Amino acid sequence: MTLLVTGGAGYIGSHTVLELLAAGQDVLALDNLSNSSRESLRRVAALTGREPGFIQGDVRDRTLLDRIFTDTAIDGVVHFAGLKAVGESVSEPLRYFDNNVTGSITLCEAMAAAGVRRLVFSSSATVYGDPAAMPIDENCPTGTPTNPYGRSKLMVEQVLQDLGRSDPRWSIALLRYFNPVGAHASGRIGEDPHGVPNNLLPYITQVAVGRLKQLSVFGGDYPTPDGTGIRDYIHIVDLAQGHLAALDYLRQHTGVRIWNLGTGTGYSVLDMIRAFEVASGRAIPYVITGRRAGDIAECWADAGKARRELGWQAHRGLTQMMADAWRWQSENPDGYATGDTPQN
Ligand code: NAD
Ligand code: UD1
Repeated sequence: MTLLVTGGAGYIGSHTVLELLAAGQDVLALDNLSNSSRESLRRVAALTGREPGFIQGDVRDRTLLDRIFTDTAIDGVVHFAGLKAVGESVSEPLRYFDNNVTGSITLCEAMAAAGVRRLVFSSSATVYGDPAAMPIDENCPTGTPTNPYGRSKLMVEQVLQDLGRSDPRWSIALLRYFNPVGAHASGRIGEDPHGVPNNLLPYITQVAVGRLKQLSVFGGDYPTPDGTGIRDYIHIVDLAQGHLAALDYLRQHTGVRIWNLGTGTGYSVLDMIRAFEVASGRAIPYVITGRRAGDIAECWADAGKARRELGWQAHRGLTQMMADAWRWQSENPDGYATGDTPQN
């Protein structure tokens, strides 16, 4: 049986496809390559010695989805496909709701028609909004996301909850990611954002290789020990492995389940800069500027539920996150445009 991985060529998708292949799972990746490169999965194939299936196409294309479910014996779907740039979602809300919400609904319709009812969905800690207390566990009520991207994630969660209630045969995992960072230890796959990065670590690594001049630290006056924002950064390989644990659970249980995927530890922006400087030996010039609209002061997970129910926890610490992020960026200064694998 084969797993369908939508958005499989992207940052989290490619790392998860690698872990799935390494675990012996057959994988078919579906990606429209709107924010990724075919090269990521070529490198995954080279690293694992196993070739994932690949279809370039859109998750909103119902005809294509029906063909995939007819042609291939799919027994579950890991659904990464979606748009994720917060600022862009503010200026192009319809594109975000169409990709993220309509895309998810179209996928579920095709799954239901094919009798495939096992689904892992990429949600985000952003659905908690600005919680009153830390750490955040899964019982913390969802809040009000500050942007259309966040609202699209919350809407899909609600759609999937209703779907699970309507038909108890569904097995659905809503995985609320905290802040994925780093890269596979080989340095062959990693995060390759198009344009200027929105997220902290790719910004730092691009400063380190000279693609960007200096980092702006968004806010030095938060009520945190050093005044900068605190987040729960999780190594991408730990995060990827969390999907395998969730799939194992879904094979034995029906219903809709929610798990935080985080480490349970928060680091400030200044902690991140210092840790990166140590790992890379490069200085990161930065300036403290005003707060970024929509940012919260702090956000970290209570990671206990995933540990208890999935037997999964993050093992890789900050030093390894930084070393792996730096290996990827320094060996691929232009991301996947650096040294494409020859095609046969
Ligand atoms: P990414 O952009 O690297 O990967 C998403 C992939 O989906 C890309 O390869 C893109 O080409 C593809 N895609 C987008 N729209 C598509 C469509 N309509 N049809 C087919 N393919 C489509 O992003 P990522 O960081 O790997 O994120 C994966 C998922 O996890 C996203 O849903 C994102 O919202 C969610 N998420 C990411 C983070 C994070 O910090 N990276 C945090 C929380 C949640
Ligand atoms: C952001 C999104 C969130 C999304 C997540 C993953 C916002 C408000 N939130 O989360 O919805 O799920 O990315 O894509 O955009 N920082 C700087 N300088 C920078 C970049 C970031 O100081 O150039 C700071 C931020 O203020 C924050 C921390 O670094 O304190 C982490 O930022 P980022 O990596 O963008 O993640 P989030 O804001 O947590």
